[in-house]
Amino acid sequence: MTYAALDYAASTPVLSQVWEDITEFVPRYGSVHRGSGHLSRYSTSVFENSREEVARFLHLRHDDEVVFTRSTTDSLNMLARCLPEGCPVYAFDTDHHAVLLPWRHDRLVLLDAPRSPAHAVEILDLALKDHDPGAEALVCLTGASNVTGELWPVRRMTDVAHRRGARVVLDAAQLVPHRPVSVQDLGVDWVAFSGHKLYAPFGAGVLAGRWDWPGRAEPYLAGGGATQSVRRTRASRLEVEWKRGVARHEAGSPNVIGAYAIASACRALSGVGFDALMEREKYLMDRVRAGLDGVPRLRLLHLFSDGAERVPVMSFTISGVDSLTLADRLSQEYGIGVRAGMFCAHPLMRHLLGDAATASCEAEEGGTAPLNAVRVSFGAGTTDEHIDRFVGSLKALMRDGS
Ligand code: ALA
Repeated sequence: MTYAALDYAASTPVLSQVWEDITEFVPRYGSVHRGSGHLSRYSTSVFENSREEVARFLHLRHDDEVVFTRSTTDSLNMLARCLPEGCPVYAFDTDHHAVLLPWRHDRLVLLDAPRSPAHAVEILDLALKDHDPGAEALVCLTGASNVTGELWPVRRMTDVAHRRGARVVLDAAQLVPHRPVSVQDLGVDWVAFSGHKLYAPFGAGVLAGRWDWPGRAEPYLAGGGATQSVRRTRASRLEVEWKRGVARHEAGSPNVIGAYAIASACRALSGVGFDALMEREKYLMDRVRAGLDGVPRLRLLHLFSDGAERVPVMSFTISGVDSLTLADRLSQEYGIGVRAGMFCAHPLMRHLLGDAATASCEAEEGGTAPLNAVRVSFGAGTTDEHIDRFVGSLKALMRDGS
């Protein structure tokens, strides 16, 4: 039995094209921006061309920049160190911890969970109503939820934020593997995503967008490569002049393999085309959905509506069934890898499950229900057999009285 990887929302398998590109590159790998030798020069050009590839993939504006980071989390933490003094940050409490936690907590304005995409736009508009349009502010948006897979109305929310004078950063970690993302069409100021969710799991991520805030901020990661000059002063202090370009935020030896893997994935996905990918993913989602509909006591989690547009990320609970045990059994007995838990989105999970789970559990047992769910997620390379095995196994486990 082959392993059925159905946890793409955590980390995708590597695309075969990415693997081929990396394998071809590895023998010619050398240090980046540091050596005079051939391999170093070659690797530097691979690294810088990777930046260009990502810029094309995201349809950046001509003066935007691409910084290679470790992940979405790293990208958002970097941006958090670049905020102007006193800049408030607005985020929905339904966001992933990577979006909620990097900011100074006293500057964070938490927005309530919306009931629909239109409601999300309204909540944001209301929250920014009293913001002075002449002052800086940042709004964090999620492209697609890592729990429900639901798509957020990024363009409409960005328009609202800009009308109120705020900047926008988009957490596109779950969006870029499934939808074309154009920074120019969406209008967002920054985009953050991870290679490990884009079929390029080699430890790199991206923060792309405007350079005014990052270009004047002290680097979040200080060290070699980020400096123009370092001097010891007479008072025995260090006087540092940071570089002005992207190197300012890429101290240390960059992860050239990771960056090249992301660029390769961008090229491969653009080559296949998102229309074909989206059509295939919709077919697989419909197949999962039809299967889940046949499982008694199963509740598919959603924030908006049951039929809201989503990427292939679906979380569910089955009343009376422990999600962690269910995920373990799917792995051990059927070779299926899904994720169970709270998905690094605790406030969202409390919102989706808290009241109902606690109430039903208190009524039945006088205890507190665990706030766990099972998540199945998939994408390019997922076979019909993997989906059918997942649905069939779930039904079999339920029949056995799990
Ligand atoms: N954010 C990743 C997930 O949802 C790790 O699984």
